[in-house]
Amino acid sequence: MEQNYTERDIREILITEEEIQAKVKEVAAQISKDYAGKDLVAICILRGCCIFFSDLMRNVTIPVDMEFMATSSYGNGAQSTGNVSILYDIQTDIKGKSVLIVEDIIDTGITLRQLKKLLSGREPESIDICVLLDKVDRRVTPVDVKYTLFKIPNEFVVGYGLDYAEKYRNYRQIGVLKPEIYE
Ligand code: IMP
Ligand code: MG
Repeated sequence: MEQNYTERDIREILITEEEIQAKVKEVAAQISKDYAGKDLVAICILRGCCIFFSDLMRNVTIPVDMEFMATSSYGNGAQSTGNVSILYDIQTDIKGKSVLIVEDIIDTGITLRQLKKLLSGREPESIDICVLLDKVDRRVTPVDVKYTLFKIPNEFVVGYGLDYAEKYRNYRQIGVLKPEIYE
């Protein structure tokens, strides 16, 4: 049988599909409890978060408005540019609502910090952050994160929505690429 391109290019699996799914269910249950009775708007930060967001929302059992937003901070590489701009904005008015920003990964923290500040200006009742992955050692600016599924070491990871040069988002697990892929 022909080898899947991801199996060929991944050096090491950091988090398996089973581990991801178990944790997603746990956090979705917590969110359902924490926001019961609230007017919840969950915002998916495209594109890295699309797969995580779908799985998370499917496991949330309270009403939720699913919104999408695209920002740019990274090009094709692995370096943060430091400024965040909105490429696509949410379509709903979040004034007086409980906002949950859902992101794939927090690295330097620059993107999420700027995004939270921007959305706070629209006067939501509350604004919290949920991230799939946290590269704790890489933080350059403090950000309050309410839900973190996994803390990971400082390595460039792909899969479950995360890309390298737009590839590997469809890999079902979270893994580290072989060094020769970057070279
Ligand atoms: P930062 O927290 O502003 O540095 O940027 C976080 C963004 O960088 C995430 O939304 C990802 O798009 C991207 N990013 C950071 N680390 C990785 C990684 O290991 N793999 C894939 N994308 C990453
Ligand atoms: Mg992203």
